[in-house]
Amino acid sequence: MSDDTIAVPFDIYRFLPGKDQIPRYQRYTLQLVPHTPVLTGLLQIRSELDPTLGLRYSCRSAICGSCAMQINSKSRLACETQVGPEVERHGRIVVEPMRNQPVLRDLVVDQSPFWREYQKVEPHLKLDPRRPMPEGKPTPMTPAEVDRFKETPRCIACAACYSACPAAEADPGFPGPMALAKLYRFVVDPRDTAHQERLLRIQPNGLWTCLRCHLCTEACPKDVRPSERIRDLKEMAIAVQGATELGSKHAYGFKENLKGAGQINEMKLVRATFGLSGMFGQVGQGIRVWRKKPEIMKKPRKIEGMDELDKIYAALDPPPKEDTP
Ligand code: FES
Repeated sequence: MSDDTIAVPFDIYRFLPGKDQIPRYQRYTLQLVPHTPVLTGLLQIRSELDPTLGLRYSCRSAICGSCAMQINSKSRLACETQVGPEVERHGRIVVEPMRNQPVLRDLVVDQSPFWREYQKVEPHLKLDPRRPMPEGKPTPMTPAEVDRFKETPRCIACAACYSACPAAEADPGFPGPMALAKLYRFVVDPRDTAHQERLLRIQPNGLWTCLRCHLCTEACPKDVRPSERIRDLKEMAIAVQGATELGSKHAYGFKENLKGAGQINEMKLVRATFGLSGMFGQVGQGIRVWRKKPEIMKKPRKIEGMDELDKIYAALDPPPKEDTP
């Protein structure tokens, strides 16, 4: 990338609760080389143009997670996001505080909701006293056991995933991607004694609120891939408890529903999710949808290429092996 400077327009969210009525965006333009981190630009603005700008940072090396913010509508670390590509793609850099957490000042948010949800999953080992080492330390794990949660220790708790999560926005009781990824780490840890208890507790309390949008995985600067860990938790929860929650019933019903035609039979899916008696509670919603889209009442026609879908189902649900005499 060139060392020539370019004009970098920053549009920065400014808001001081209690003093400002509403947030505003303030424009500052700097001449910077394209590989300058956004954080460096913000610090230059604060030291040279406006000492009142509120922001949080520490390591400047993508390690501490303090500088997460919205940069051109994406949850990013400001210390590792370069200005050049942002200006090239968007023509300017819009900097906003993280979402789903109240703003304290400008780009600084109150992370209490994020940490509160993290605490709820009890992110610590509950050790099995049957596997002690002679000196009282827990039994070491095999490389294969460690490999099962190799991504989660990379998490730096920057909350970029929580900021990007629409489920956390819609339901403040949703644990959020980081908390669930950390939960997964303890559920697959062979030294932990509370696997089932953890899964049973999380199922009705938010696991199925996840929308599978994968925005958390896209936002994560450390490739923890929280949405994949949440998917794993869902599979494990169904294995332990069966499809007992609305979310798991819906997921299971969806899979069964596509069999045969390759298209969703909406009526059957509502029944699989809510049960026969629960369907009555959905009548109002059903009428509203039917008025807009009357074809949902019809039995879906078989799609072309259904044989390909059949092969996928056959791979997912192999027939039971016959006992050899
Ligand atoms: S300042 Fe530490 S991660 Fe950016």
